[in-house]
Amino acid sequence: MTTFHKTVTTYRSGAQTMPRERYTSPELLAEEKERIFARHWNCVGRASRLASPGDYIVRDIAGESLIILRDRGGELRAFFNVCRHRGTQICNARSGQFSETIQCPYHAWTYATDGRLIGAPHMQDVESFDKRDFSLHSAALAVWEGFIFVNLSREPQPFDEWFAPMLRRLERYNLAGLAIGHSVTYDVRANWKLVFQNYSECLHCPMIHPELSTVLPYQSGANDLVEGPFLGGYMEIMSPNESATLSGRACGRLVNPSLADDDRHRAFYYTLMPNLMLSIHPDYVNYYLLTPVAADRTIVESEWMFHPSNNGDPAFNPSDAIGFWDVTNKQDWDIVERSQLGVSSRRYEPGPYSPRESIPAAWDRAYLDMMSGGSH
Ligand code: FES
Ligand SMILES: [Fe+2]
Repeated sequence: MTTFHKTVTTYRSGAQTMPRERYTSPELLAEEKERIFARHWNCVGRASRLASPGDYIVRDIAGESLIILRDRGGELRAFFNVCRHRGTQICNARSGQFSETIQCPYHAWTYATDGRLIGAPHMQDVESFDKRDFSLHSAALAVWEGFIFVNLSREPQPFDEWFAPMLRRLERYNLAGLAIGHSVTYDVRANWKLVFQNYSECLHCPMIHPELSTVLPYQSGANDLVEGPFLGGYMEIMSPNESATLSGRACGRLVNPSLADDDRHRAFYYTLMPNLMLSIHPDYVNYYLLTPVAADRTIVESEWMFHPSNNGDPAFNPSDAIGFWDVTNKQDWDIVERSQLGVSSRRYEPGPYSPRESIPAAWDRAYLDMMSGGSH
């Protein structure tokens, strides 16, 4: 049985926001890349994007370029985008399909899609050269509910161990079976932590999101994850609304037709360190991938997913859900950009969190724990 805690009950007195440098310092961002993004399991999107053998995407994690692909045998793999000859970046497209092999454009070293070096011109003349010693460097990869995760570490913590609190938590939502309906990328002029913190509380909802607040009353929810790198819980969808959409009606079929009664009236919001925010509604799921590109700038890629049986149904109205979040997201980016401006001031100093902000306070603790080498 999942236990839910009302937000105010997990408040720890004395909780305060973080100092200015945490949001402004390039050195600190470099440290975050090292300690957080290069060490932990980063989400890189949906496995359905790599449907056929040879399909690939290129992703940047902690300043590294990674090729994530489906190999000829159907397996998903992640490789550092670095040729084993003289180190050249092999692939500069953001996505595509490799035919049979992966070839470096410089001197034509050629790799199989499973990373093995299979062609290296003139290297047969080099004494003791053995192709088997020059496979592409791989990164650890795991799939959860249709999401791909990659870990750059040479000794990654086993995914199932790291992800234990999440592993079966959302099974009932059939996430792996959902189809992508819409994608959008936002360029947010704010530190990545402000984006996470903002997502973690709805104290701001009556002020910032008048539309959302009528559907999801900000005090209605409770959290099932209240400490650690995964945080969040649900909010009630206020009747007669059926979902978080512009019209208040469901935009399509349930993500799982056998969803329990409670879940049909709830929307779940989770932050998953280090780079995923997941929003689950009875009839659709949307998620966000955060990539910090500067201390004051974050790229946020978002997708909406629906049950594939909606396709062809005249009642299916995905723009009802897409529009709802497009409005809400922009309100959020506006306010986090204003937060960025304020916390950059010489006079800004940490301020007190209220009991309704127990989750962002817990997020800050999880972040600081990761920075000090914990959670591993
Ligand atoms: S650097 Fe790639 S083949 Fe030479
Ligand atoms: Fe918001």
